[in-house]
Amino acid sequence: MRNKLPNLVRSQQLSRELLEELFTLSEKIRKNESKYSTSLKGKMMDIIFYESSTRTRKSFEVAMKMLGGQATVTENAKEFSSAAKGETLEDTVRVIEAYSDIIVLRHPDLGSSELASKLVDIPVINAGDGKGQHPTQALLDVYTIWKEFGKVDGLRVAMIGDLANGRTVRSLAYLSAKFNKMELTFVSPPNLNIGNDIKSYLIEHNLPFTEENDFNSVIPEVDVIYMTRIQKERMSPEDYNKSKGKYILNQKNLKLVRKDARILHPLPHVEEISLPITIEENDPRVAYFRQAENGLYTRMALLHHLLA
Ligand code: CP
Repeated sequence: MRNKLPNLVRSQQLSRELLEELFTLSEKIRKNESKYSTSLKGKMMDIIFYESSTRTRKSFEVAMKMLGGQATVTENAKEFSSAAKGETLEDTVRVIEAYSDIIVLRHPDLGSSELASKLVDIPVINAGDGKGQHPTQALLDVYTIWKEFGKVDGLRVAMIGDLANGRTVRSLAYLSAKFNKMELTFVSPPNLNIGNDIKSYLIEHNLPFTEENDFNSVIPEVDVIYMTRIQKERMSPEDYNKSKGKYILNQKNLKLVRKDARILHPLPHVEEISLPITIEENDPRVAYFRQAENGLYTRMALLHHLLA
């Protein structure tokens, strides 16, 4: 591959060309092409998470194993690694480097993966650095959009919810700038607006965006409704109470959503999606469980790219 990455700590590292290569590779892997089942034989991945996770942690572990490699996992690393004894992240990753071929890191500090990537000579994947980024989530998000619509260019995407603390929306906004003629609409409570750094980046990259707060007037107008959770754990109780329950997708306003639109969510969702399981299972617009499944194939493709 011409665009070989050394690591993945920021979405901006993913060029459009590489994204398309990874989409194609994800499709081949999804079709169970047997040549990939041993492509990482003999490789060891270290997954170390200082924050909670279901999808990212499990899909990385399964992805590595499905490629023939092995994985060692530390969850709740604040308690179950020597961080509990005061070891710094810098020391921890330099030690892990001796045991592994790749590190997948989730950590509450902004820039933690970037820092780790500068200290070790093996690839580091940012699986979430506080309020910073979650680039593999954005990779699976754009792959999901591409798979659902057959394209990404020209689509209108609304990102809704906690845009101040949501690292997935930040990474997705950066990736959106790789495509042509997309339009973004940010819908958030006034205390949780998208950051000025993202807005500046979009202006610099000629990606039109608007900021709205009337959820029901936005959802009939867009192709992709990207819902996000209010991140209670990253704000004061006052801020949480101001924003909680402000934007909820339910059976009533689902009627406003276009028939050919798709509803995405990085998950986990709480009250911001309030749809019965029968709708989640049967309405083709509900794409967030397919999206979570896509995380497996895109992470397999990324691991193959970084290590094979
Ligand atoms: N979307 C996401 O990062 O989910 P987890 O926190 O469960 O990994």
